[in-house]
Amino acid sequence: MRGLFVTATDTGVGKTEVACAILRNARAAGLDVIGMKPAQSGHDPGEPSDADRLRAACDGAEPLEVICPYTFAAPLAPAVAARVEGKTVSLARIVDAARALAARHEAVLVEGAGGLLVPLTERETYADLARALGLAALVVARAGLGTVNHVALTVEALRARRIPLAGIVLNRTVAEDDPSVPHNVAEIARLTGCEPLATLPFVRDIAERASIVRSRLAGKIQF
Ligand SMILES: Nc1ncnc2c1ncn2[C@@H]1O[C@H](COP(=O)(O)OP(=O)(O)OP(=O)(O)O)[C@@H](O)[C@H]1O
Ligand SMILES: [Mg+2]
Repeated sequence: MRGLFVTATDTGVGKTEVACAILRNARAAGLDVIGMKPAQSGHDPGEPSDADRLRAACDGAEPLEVICPYTFAAPLAPAVAARVEGKTVSLARIVDAARALAARHEAVLVEGAGGLLVPLTERETYADLARALGLAALVVARAGLGTVNHVALTVEALRARRIPLAGIVLNRTVAEDDPSVPHNVAEIARLTGCEPLATLPFVRDIAERASIVRSRLAGKIQF
């Protein structure tokens, strides 16, 4: 399958921001890529969900339930949220849904939930999904203190499972930089052998942020 798996070092790190920018850039460049959020949980009904945002970035090219087969009310890992609701998540169903999208489009971008080893089903994590789909993983991480360790652990977990690393993107999720920020790109490159593709600025305004993230990632992500 041609595509990309967007994971992160944690929840709330910027996967959806980065995923939407990549989708918009690729589609503007003529690639028919479709975004998918296999499972989402706990989104505020007053706000657009991740699946809504990915769908908007793809001009509504597929129905919501097609790009997001599982939705849960509680803000929990999908496997846990499903258990609480007396439901089950099936990896096979997600893989089938992704393959159906891949058959209708040139590429599929899959956004995880939280980090790489978040439980997706009773037996599988998001790493198992990336492997089942044969996709390389883009790792989104915070720009500040703690990120070197989080990125190194995530890259080690990817390599242990032979999931190709598509790249690393650092994102300033807080307004103030801490003293580690100027050192983190070089430390991550030294520890992982992979230089981060970009460090995104903190931008409060949503529309302005979307356009800046797009320009910072333009031409840097290959499918
Ligand atoms: N560069 C930035 N500047 C300012 N705010 C940001 C930036 N990046 C992300 N945010 C904000 O941080 C929050 C988390 O971002 P996002 O939803 O992309 O994270 P996520 O990794 O997709 O989370 P989840 O695990 O829930 O899918 C959002 O409210 C977003 O508006
Ligand atoms: Mg998200």
